[in-house]
Amino acid sequence: MITMDLRGRDMITTQEWTREELEAVLKFSKDLKKKTKAGKSPHLLSDKTFFMLFYNTSTRTRASFEAALTELGGHAQFLEPGAMRLGEGESVKDTANTLARYGHGIGIRILEKAVGYVYGRGNQVLRDYAKWSDIPIVNMADDKFHPCQSLTDLMTVQENFPKIQGKKFVFSWAYSRHSRSWCSVQSAILTATRFGMDVTLAHPPGFELDAEIMEWCHQNAHESGGGFSITNDVKDAYSGAHVVYPRSWMSAECSAVGIDKWGEDTEAQLHENYRDWICNSELMDLTNKDAIYMHCLPVFRGEEATDEVVDSPQSVIFDQAENRMHLQKGLLSLIMSDENLL
Ligand code: CP
Repeated sequence: MITMDLRGRDMITTQEWTREELEAVLKFSKDLKKKTKAGKSPHLLSDKTFFMLFYNTSTRTRASFEAALTELGGHAQFLEPGAMRLGEGESVKDTANTLARYGHGIGIRILEKAVGYVYGRGNQVLRDYAKWSDIPIVNMADDKFHPCQSLTDLMTVQENFPKIQGKKFVFSWAYSRHSRSWCSVQSAILTATRFGMDVTLAHPPGFELDAEIMEWCHQNAHESGGGFSITNDVKDAYSGAHVVYPRSWMSAECSAVGIDKWGEDTEAQLHENYRDWICNSELMDLTNKDAIYMHCLPVFRGEEATDEVVDSPQSVIFDQAENRMHLQKGLLSLIMSDENLL
């Protein structure tokens, strides 16, 4: 019998893990959540250190990883690259090699302002850390992927729907003045198609995402027996949905050239054309009666969604936020522990 062993693995995108491996992470995390709720969170990472390099700001990711390590009996060390020698030109190679001598995992967030909003640059930095580090690298959001968020999203969907195969999962562009990266949407639709959901991506013209990742979503849906379609019709997308996940993201042209060249005002003006892409009760009325409203947060209230929706009984946003911690406890335990916990 072959036993699964996830120790030492990087988590840069869920797409590089098998479905069975992702299922193992989800199962282990749910079990840890139950134990935590019963006041019996085991110290699976005693004396272990997880370094967290934040090239960008964060509320949930930083707080949930720190809380996760506390509950696991280890330590999460917050590192700000601007306050490190990296800021003076020390290489990623030397930084990764050094941290690997002290700790047992490295989390990295790098996207948006930190890479001039040029698509792919942040992911490349993560790949460089992974090349030079012999301890696991965990993606805490780059410009392509946010795997800890998307696995958490899936865990939250599974908690709300015992059977998710064929359920309609809608990720919709939503109005905002802000320019946000593509990581959360791309990871969410990659994971949902992987697990057999009927996924609809809705956005106005000009907000197309990475063509290669769209191809992966089609392939995932084909293999899982789910579905994947893209529409510019927001009402059609919401009709009959079981899960709606409306969030703003930057346009394809902005992503291609970077915001300095494209212009913040040009991007904001483009968004103004689609102010009606706000998730409100009229759109929610089109969904299935058991539908849930999701958002990875932070949500721009009054832009991406009305307060009425964000604060409604259908909203599971704080369950999602809480599940970040449980999911990350499971993932880090499986990749950083000395023992194989599976
Ligand atoms: N969802 C998420 O990654 O939140 P933060 O940006 O606050 O970490």
